[in-house]
Amino acid sequence: MRQLGVGVLGAHQWADMAHLPGYAAHDRANLIAICDVVEARARDMADKYHIPHVFTDPHELIGHPEVEMVDVCTPTDTHLPLSFAAIEAGKHVLSEKPLARNAADAFRVAKAAEDKGVRTKLGFTFRYSPAIRQLHAWIHDGTLGEIFHVHGLEQNSQFLDPTYPLRQVSADADRSALIPSSIVGYGSHLVDLLRWCAGEFGHVIGSMHNYIPERLVRGYEGMQRIPVDDGTVALVKFASGAQGMLQTSYIAVGNYPGVEVRVYGSKGAAVARLVEEFGVAETLHFATPDEVEFKPVTLPDTAFPPGTDVHTPWAELYYRNLVRHFVDEILDDAPPECTFYDGAKSQEIVDAIVTSHLERSWVTLPVHTKG
Ligand SMILES: NC(=O)c1ccc[n+]([C@@H]2O[C@H](COP(=O)([O-])OP(=O)(O)OC[C@H]3O[C@@H](n4cnc5c(N)ncnc54)[C@H](O)[C@@H]3O)[C@@H](O)[C@H]2O)c1
Repeated sequence: MRQLGVGVLGAHQWADMAHLPGYAAHDRANLIAICDVVEARARDMADKYHIPHVFTDPHELIGHPEVEMVDVCTPTDTHLPLSFAAIEAGKHVLSEKPLARNAADAFRVAKAAEDKGVRTKLGFTFRYSPAIRQLHAWIHDGTLGEIFHVHGLEQNSQFLDPTYPLRQVSADADRSALIPSSIVGYGSHLVDLLRWCAGEFGHVIGSMHNYIPERLVRGYEGMQRIPVDDGTVALVKFASGAQGMLQTSYIAVGNYPGVEVRVYGSKGAAVARLVEEFGVAETLHFATPDEVEFKPVTLPDTAFPPGTDVHTPWAELYYRNLVRHFVDEILDDAPPECTFYDGAKSQEIVDAIVTSHLERSWVTLPVHTKG
């Protein structure tokens, strides 16, 4: 069987929880190399997942002749340069979100991949939830009819306790003003889900707020005054005319990942709830105008990656599906999905929500003419 040679950059928590189990479980993927600037981390993961080559220099991994696809699972500020380097070397790339700190850079790297003829995938985990994929199918096959309203949440209590160290802040962030954070970290996923379900955004207006002003921050001693947005709400007018509402929160009581998408159409409504509770990763409910009580929907085994079911921990369930899709897309020359371009579009919308907050007015999209 033809296998795709994969090299993973970054060998820490998320690589171990999500990316590496995905490749290890897929028989068409061959984990060739792992790299971390902290050598012990790379060695631990190499032992755990039986990976033959270990590097501390990402450029050596990227240049390895057997590595056909590079997976960037490193901190945010490294995603852009490492993705550019992999593209330049002619390798397919999967990058964690966000791709860049601003949409212009994200569009640039998407264009570089297109020019080089390599494939890309953005780590938008929740597109690969079986419940979300079913909801998306119901929208696009007409089951839900004309779409009127789309609501999205990504909220959980990850940072409700201020002594749980925040890591999503860049070292040079200006602390004298509100620092966009939940809308960047959580919002990039949520905005992508809403765009995937309801199409392009036409206008947005949002409001960001800091509720917990002092926290521990990874890399700093003691409590820090760090005014991140730990809660954001936004209204959306989609290009189709549909209405949307979204909320991101670091401090809303509830479990991970705390994603919910509700879609209301002329023929039906569906609610996908991705909140791990009592050993169940997600639920899906459906209602029609004739039977308005929402009923639970049980998806067939084929909706789940082999060896998983609704009781598989969410990070592993969704990422096994995501990496399997990317490896198969490359090997089968299948239509691309969830690319760097989608990452750039999501970033453009997140930037617009931040601008709307600062200017206290609606922002019209697209902002970037090439977007
Ligand atoms: N898609 C999702 O749902 C989701 C969830 C969690 C985390 N993430 C993202 O995944 C990424 C990794 O998350 P994490 O929690 O494991 O982060 P982390 O900071 O704990 O680990 C990143 C690792 O990368 C290594 N590293 C740093 N620079 C490097 C370089 N230039 N080359 C090679 N290795 C380098 C670090 O030493 C560290 O071991 C982050 O971008 C994070 O935002 C995404």
